[in-house]
Amino acid sequence: MVNDGFRLFPEQATAHAAQVDALYLFLTLVSTFFTVLIAGLIVYFAIKYRRGNRKVDRTLSHGHGMAMEISWIVIPGLICLIIFGWSASLYFSAFRAPAGAISIQVVAKQWMWKFQHPNGGREINTLHVPMGQAVELTMISEDVIHSLFVPAFRVKHDVLPGSYSRLWFNANKTGEFHLFCTEYCGTDHSRMIGKVVVMQPAEYEAWLSGGKVNESPAVAGKRLFEELRCATCHTPGQGQPVLTCPPLTNVYGHEVQLTTGSKVMADEDYLRESILRPRAKVVAGFQPLMPTYEGQVDEEQLMQLLVYIKSLSTNPSAQ
Ligand code: CUA
Repeated sequence: MVNDGFRLFPEQATAHAAQVDALYLFLTLVSTFFTVLIAGLIVYFAIKYRRGNRKVDRTLSHGHGMAMEISWIVIPGLICLIIFGWSASLYFSAFRAPAGAISIQVVAKQWMWKFQHPNGGREINTLHVPMGQAVELTMISEDVIHSLFVPAFRVKHDVLPGSYSRLWFNANKTGEFHLFCTEYCGTDHSRMIGKVVVMQPAEYEAWLSGGKVNESPAVAGKRLFEELRCATCHTPGQGQPVLTCPPLTNVYGHEVQLTTGSKVMADEDYLRESILRPRAKVVAGFQPLMPTYEGQVDEEQLMQLLVYIKSLSTNPSAQ
Protein backbone atom coordinates (compact mmCIF):
# COMPACT_ATOMS: atom_id res chain seq x y z
CA MET A 1 0.00 0.00 0.00
CA VAL A 2 1.12 3.53 -0.69
CA ASN A 3 2.04 5.62 2.38
CA ASP A 4 1.21 3.41 5.31
CA GLY A 5 3.60 4.86 7.85
CA PHE A 6 7.13 3.98 8.89
CA ARG A 7 8.59 0.61 8.09
CA LEU A 8 12.16 -0.65 8.24
CA PHE A 9 11.96 -2.35 4.83
CA PRO A 10 9.63 -1.63 1.94
CA GLU A 11 6.85 -4.13 1.46
CA GLN A 12 7.81 -7.30 -0.45
CA ALA A 13 5.68 -7.78 -3.55
CA THR A 14 7.80 -10.23 -5.56
CA ALA A 15 9.61 -13.48 -4.74
CA HIS A 16 12.76 -11.66 -5.84
CA ALA A 17 12.20 -9.06 -3.10
CA ALA A 18 12.30 -11.77 -0.43
CA GLN A 19 15.54 -13.13 -1.90
CA VAL A 20 17.15 -9.68 -1.94
CA ASP A 21 16.14 -9.15 1.68
CA ALA A 22 17.58 -12.56 2.67
CA LEU A 23 20.94 -11.58 1.13
CA TYR A 24 20.77 -8.21 2.86
CA LEU A 25 20.04 -9.90 6.18
CA PHE A 26 23.02 -12.23 5.68
CA LEU A 27 25.33 -9.26 4.98
CA THR A 28 24.01 -7.48 8.06
CA LEU A 29 24.50 -10.55 10.27
CA VAL A 30 28.06 -11.19 9.04
CA SER A 31 28.99 -7.51 9.53
CA THR A 32 27.38 -7.41 12.97
CA PHE A 33 29.14 -10.61 14.05
CA PHE A 34 32.61 -9.30 13.12
CA THR A 35 31.94 -5.80 14.45
CA VAL A 36 30.88 -7.17 17.83
CA LEU A 37 33.76 -9.68 17.87
CA ILE A 38 36.44 -7.09 17.08
CA ALA A 39 35.01 -4.34 19.29
CA GLY A 40 34.60 -6.87 22.12
CA LEU A 41 38.23 -8.06 21.81
CA ILE A 42 39.51 -4.46 21.80
CA VAL A 43 37.69 -3.76 25.07
CA TYR A 44 38.73 -7.11 26.57
CA PHE A 45 42.44 -6.65 25.76
CA ALA A 46 42.40 -3.01 26.82
CA ILE A 47 41.21 -4.05 30.26
CA LYS A 48 43.37 -7.18 30.53
CA TYR A 49 46.64 -5.46 29.54
CA ARG A 50 46.02 -2.16 31.36
CA ARG A 51 49.13 -0.66 32.97
CA GLY A 52 48.07 -1.45 36.53
CA ASN A 53 47.58 -5.17 35.93
CA ARG A 54 50.81 -6.94 36.95
CA LYS A 55 49.42 -10.46 36.79
CA VAL A 56 49.52 -10.86 32.98
CA ASP A 57 52.35 -12.32 30.99
CA ARG A 58 54.00 -9.57 28.92
CA THR A 59 56.87 -11.54 27.34
CA LEU A 60 57.06 -11.18 23.55
CA SER A 61 56.07 -14.24 21.54
CA HIS A 62 58.37 -14.90 18.58
CA GLY A 63 56.44 -17.88 17.25
CA HIS A 64 54.81 -17.94 13.85
CA GLY A 65 51.14 -18.93 14.10
CA MET A 66 50.66 -20.75 10.79
CA ALA A 67 47.28 -22.15 11.77
CA MET A 68 46.08 -18.67 12.66
CA GLU A 69 47.41 -17.16 9.42
CA ILE A 70 45.66 -19.79 7.33
CA SER A 71 42.38 -19.41 9.17
CA TRP A 72 42.23 -15.63 8.81
CA ILE A 73 42.85 -15.94 5.10
CA VAL A 74 40.60 -18.92 4.38
CA ILE A 75 37.56 -18.03 6.52
CA PRO A 76 37.03 -14.44 5.27
CA GLY A 77 37.91 -15.64 1.74
CA LEU A 78 35.15 -18.25 1.86
CA ILE A 79 32.65 -15.79 3.29
CA CYS A 80 33.42 -13.32 0.47
CA LEU A 81 33.02 -16.05 -2.15
CA ILE A 82 29.65 -17.04 -0.70
CA ILE A 83 28.52 -13.40 -0.85
CA PHE A 84 29.82 -13.05 -4.42
CA GLY A 85 28.18 -16.24 -5.70
CA TRP A 86 24.88 -15.47 -3.99
CA SER A 87 24.74 -11.84 -5.21
CA ALA A 88 25.82 -12.68 -8.75
CA SER A 89 23.12 -15.32 -9.20
CA LEU A 90 20.49 -12.90 -7.85
CA TYR A 91 21.78 -10.14 -10.11
CA PHE A 92 21.59 -12.30 -13.21
CA SER A 93 18.12 -13.56 -12.40
CA ALA A 94 16.98 -9.95 -11.86
CA PHE A 95 17.90 -8.95 -15.42
CA ARG A 96 17.12 -12.09 -17.41
CA ALA A 97 13.40 -12.29 -18.02
CA PRO A 98 11.86 -15.76 -18.38
CA ALA A 99 10.49 -16.66 -21.82
CA GLY A 100 6.93 -15.53 -22.39
CA ALA A 101 7.14 -12.41 -20.24
CA ILE A 102 4.66 -9.66 -21.08
CA SER A 103 6.65 -6.99 -22.90
CA ILE A 104 5.99 -3.37 -21.95
CA GLN A 105 7.76 -0.45 -23.64
CA VAL A 106 8.90 2.40 -21.41
CA VAL A 107 9.98 5.84 -22.61
CA ALA A 108 11.27 8.20 -19.94
CA LYS A 109 11.60 11.95 -20.37
CA GLN A 110 11.87 15.05 -18.23
CA TRP A 111 9.73 14.48 -16.22
CA MET A 112 7.39 11.59 -16.85
CA TRP A 113 7.18 7.87 -17.51
CA LYS A 114 5.35 6.69 -20.63
CA PHE A 115 4.27 3.06 -20.80
CA GLN A 116 2.87 1.08 -23.70
CA HIS A 117 1.23 -2.35 -23.36
CA PRO A 118 1.46 -5.13 -25.98
CA ASN A 119 -2.07 -4.33 -27.22
CA GLY A 120 -1.12 -0.67 -27.72
CA GLY A 121 -2.70 0.68 -24.53
CA ARG A 122 -0.79 3.68 -23.21
CA GLU A 123 -0.50 5.27 -19.82
CA ILE A 124 1.62 7.89 -18.10
CA ASN A 125 3.20 7.58 -14.61
CA THR A 126 0.91 4.67 -13.70
CA LEU A 127 1.63 1.13 -14.82
CA HIS A 128 -1.03 -1.58 -14.59
CA VAL A 129 0.29 -5.16 -14.54
CA PRO A 130 -1.21 -8.57 -13.78
CA MET A 131 -0.28 -10.51 -10.65
CA GLY A 132 1.66 -13.77 -11.01
CA GLN A 133 2.95 -13.09 -14.52
CA ALA A 134 6.43 -12.07 -15.58
CA VAL A 135 6.50 -8.54 -16.99
CA GLU A 136 9.52 -7.26 -18.88
CA LEU A 137 10.17 -3.55 -19.34
CA THR A 138 12.22 -2.36 -22.33
CA MET A 139 13.26 1.16 -21.45
CA ILE A 140 14.85 4.15 -23.14
CA SER A 141 15.12 7.86 -22.40
CA GLU A 142 14.31 10.76 -24.72
CA ASP A 143 16.71 13.11 -22.98
CA VAL A 144 18.95 12.55 -19.93
CA ILE A 145 19.67 9.52 -17.74
CA HIS A 146 16.74 8.47 -15.55
CA SER A 147 16.43 5.37 -13.41
CA LEU A 148 13.35 3.30 -12.72
CA PHE A 149 12.96 1.93 -9.20
CA VAL A 150 10.09 0.00 -7.66
CA PRO A 151 11.14 -0.60 -4.02
CA ALA A 152 8.47 -3.21 -3.31
CA PHE A 153 9.79 -5.32 -6.20
CA ARG A 154 13.48 -4.61 -5.34
CA VAL A 155 14.20 -3.84 -8.99
CA LYS A 156 15.94 -0.77 -10.33
CA HIS A 157 17.72 0.02 -13.56
CA ASP A 158 19.10 3.12 -15.24
CA VAL A 159 17.17 4.34 -18.27
CA LEU A 160 19.62 5.75 -20.80
CA PRO A 161 19.31 7.93 -23.87
CA GLY A 162 20.42 6.05 -26.99
CA SER A 163 20.47 2.54 -25.57
CA TYR A 164 17.84 0.11 -24.35
CA SER A 165 17.87 -1.31 -20.86
CA ARG A 166 15.61 -3.95 -19.43
CA LEU A 167 14.29 -5.26 -16.18
CA TRP A 168 11.59 -7.67 -15.24
CA PHE A 169 9.46 -8.63 -12.27
CA ASN A 170 6.68 -10.99 -11.29
CA ALA A 171 4.44 -9.42 -8.66
CA ASN A 172 2.93 -11.84 -6.15
CA LYS A 173 0.58 -9.39 -4.46
CA THR A 174 -2.14 -7.07 -5.74
CA GLY A 175 -2.10 -3.42 -4.74
CA GLU A 176 -0.43 -0.14 -5.55
CA PHE A 177 3.31 0.27 -5.25
CA HIS A 178 5.53 3.34 -5.51
CA LEU A 179 7.63 3.91 -8.60
CA PHE A 180 10.50 6.41 -8.45
CA CYS A 181 13.08 8.02 -10.70
CA THR A 182 16.32 7.45 -8.77
CA GLU A 183 18.75 9.35 -10.96
CA TYR A 184 18.90 13.12 -10.57
CA CYS A 185 17.53 14.38 -13.89
CA GLY A 186 16.81 18.07 -13.42
CA THR A 187 14.43 20.45 -11.68
CA ASP A 188 11.43 18.15 -11.34
CA HIS A 189 13.36 14.93 -10.67
CA SER A 190 11.65 14.62 -7.28
CA ARG A 191 8.25 14.70 -8.99
CA MET A 192 9.10 12.05 -11.55
CA ILE A 193 7.22 9.46 -9.57
CA GLY A 194 4.32 7.15 -10.19
CA LYS A 195 2.81 3.88 -9.17
CA VAL A 196 2.55 0.30 -10.31
CA VAL A 197 -0.94 -1.13 -9.95
CA VAL A 198 -0.89 -4.93 -9.64
CA MET A 199 -4.25 -6.51 -10.53
CA GLN A 200 -5.69 -10.00 -10.72
CA PRO A 201 -5.01 -11.35 -14.26
CA ALA A 202 -8.72 -11.28 -15.17
CA GLU A 203 -9.04 -7.69 -13.92
CA TYR A 204 -5.95 -6.74 -15.90
CA GLU A 205 -7.44 -8.22 -19.07
CA ALA A 206 -10.65 -6.29 -18.44
CA TRP A 207 -8.69 -3.13 -17.77
CA LEU A 208 -6.64 -3.59 -20.97
CA SER A 209 -9.65 -4.10 -23.18
CA GLY A 210 -11.56 -1.31 -21.45
CA GLY A 211 -9.24 1.46 -22.62
CA LYS A 212 -9.71 3.16 -25.95
CA VAL A 213 -8.62 1.03 -28.87
CA ASN A 214 -5.02 1.59 -29.81
CA GLU A 215 -2.84 0.18 -32.51
CA SER A 216 -0.54 -2.46 -31.04
CA PRO A 217 3.18 -1.58 -31.28
CA ALA A 218 3.68 -4.34 -33.88
CA VAL A 219 0.89 -3.00 -36.12
CA ALA A 220 2.04 0.61 -35.67
CA GLY A 221 5.57 -0.54 -36.52
CA LYS A 222 4.39 -2.25 -39.72
CA ARG A 223 2.47 0.88 -40.74
CA LEU A 224 5.54 3.06 -40.10
CA PHE A 225 7.70 0.58 -42.01
CA GLU A 226 5.48 1.14 -45.04
CA GLU A 227 5.01 4.91 -44.54
CA LEU A 228 8.75 5.47 -44.31
CA ARG A 229 9.17 3.34 -47.47
CA CYS A 230 11.44 0.85 -45.71
CA ALA A 231 9.49 -1.93 -47.38
CA THR A 232 10.38 -0.90 -50.96
CA CYS A 233 14.01 -1.79 -50.32
CA HIS A 234 13.95 -4.30 -47.46
CA THR A 235 11.15 -6.60 -48.64
CA PRO A 236 11.98 -9.05 -51.45
CA GLY A 237 9.72 -8.76 -54.48
CA GLN A 238 8.53 -5.23 -53.74
CA GLY A 239 11.28 -3.13 -55.25
CA GLN A 240 14.05 -4.01 -57.66
CA PRO A 241 14.48 -7.64 -58.73
CA VAL A 242 17.91 -7.70 -57.06
CA LEU A 243 17.66 -6.71 -53.42
CA THR A 244 19.85 -3.70 -52.65
CA CYS A 245 19.09 -3.81 -48.91
CA PRO A 246 19.40 -6.71 -46.47
CA PRO A 247 16.09 -8.55 -45.99
CA LEU A 248 14.82 -8.32 -42.42
CA THR A 249 13.25 -11.74 -42.01
CA ASN A 250 15.00 -13.73 -39.27
CA VAL A 251 17.50 -10.96 -38.57
CA TYR A 252 16.57 -10.13 -34.99
CA GLY A 253 18.29 -12.49 -32.57
CA HIS A 254 20.75 -13.76 -35.18
CA GLU A 255 24.36 -12.89 -35.92
CA VAL A 256 25.00 -10.57 -38.84
CA GLN A 257 28.20 -10.53 -40.92
CA LEU A 258 29.49 -7.00 -41.54
CA THR A 259 31.60 -5.53 -44.36
CA THR A 260 34.45 -5.16 -41.87
CA GLY A 261 34.54 -8.94 -41.51
CA SER A 262 33.34 -8.92 -37.92
CA LYS A 263 30.03 -10.25 -36.71
CA VAL A 264 27.42 -8.55 -34.58
CA MET A 265 24.35 -9.87 -32.76
CA ALA A 266 21.24 -8.23 -34.20
CA ASP A 267 19.62 -7.08 -30.97
CA GLU A 268 17.49 -4.00 -30.37
CA ASP A 269 20.48 -1.69 -29.92
CA TYR A 270 22.04 -2.82 -33.21
CA LEU A 271 18.77 -2.38 -35.15
CA ARG A 272 18.18 1.02 -33.53
CA GLU A 273 21.67 2.14 -34.54
CA SER A 274 21.12 0.88 -38.09
CA ILE A 275 17.96 2.98 -38.43
CA LEU A 276 19.56 6.14 -37.03
CA ARG A 277 23.15 5.70 -38.28
CA PRO A 278 22.97 3.20 -41.16
CA ARG A 279 26.64 3.61 -42.04
CA ALA A 280 27.93 2.59 -38.61
CA LYS A 281 27.66 -1.16 -39.28
CA VAL A 282 27.05 -2.18 -42.88
CA VAL A 283 25.99 -5.74 -43.65
CA ALA A 284 28.46 -7.69 -45.81
CA GLY A 285 27.51 -7.74 -49.48
CA PHE A 286 25.57 -4.45 -49.40
CA GLN A 287 26.45 -0.85 -50.21
CA PRO A 288 25.97 1.89 -47.57
CA LEU A 289 22.98 3.37 -49.44
CA MET A 290 20.46 3.75 -46.66
CA PRO A 291 19.68 7.33 -45.54
CA THR A 292 19.54 8.14 -41.84
CA TYR A 293 16.19 8.34 -40.10
CA GLU A 294 17.56 10.41 -37.24
CA GLY A 295 15.04 13.15 -36.43
CA GLN A 296 12.28 11.49 -38.48
CA VAL A 297 11.23 8.94 -35.89
CA ASP A 298 10.93 9.47 -32.14
CA GLU A 299 11.79 6.93 -29.45
CA GLU A 300 8.26 5.49 -29.34
CA GLN A 301 8.18 5.01 -33.12
CA LEU A 302 11.63 3.42 -33.02
CA MET A 303 10.39 0.94 -30.43
CA GLN A 304 7.37 0.17 -32.62
CA LEU A 305 9.61 -0.44 -35.64
CA LEU A 306 11.76 -2.77 -33.51
CA VAL A 307 8.73 -4.70 -32.25
CA TYR A 308 7.68 -5.14 -35.90
CA ILE A 309 11.16 -6.26 -37.04
CA LYS A 310 11.25 -8.61 -34.04
CA SER A 311 7.95 -10.12 -35.19
CA LEU A 312 9.61 -11.08 -38.52
CA SER A 313 12.02 -13.34 -36.66
CA THR A 314 11.38 -16.89 -35.54
CA ASN A 315 13.92 -16.48 -32.76
CA PRO A 316 12.62 -13.47 -30.89
CA SER A 317 14.31 -14.30 -27.58
CA ALA A 318 17.71 -12.69 -28.12
CA GLN A 319 19.01 -10.51 -25.35
CU1 CUA B 1 14.08 11.23 -14.09
CU2 CUA B 1 15.21 11.68 -12.07
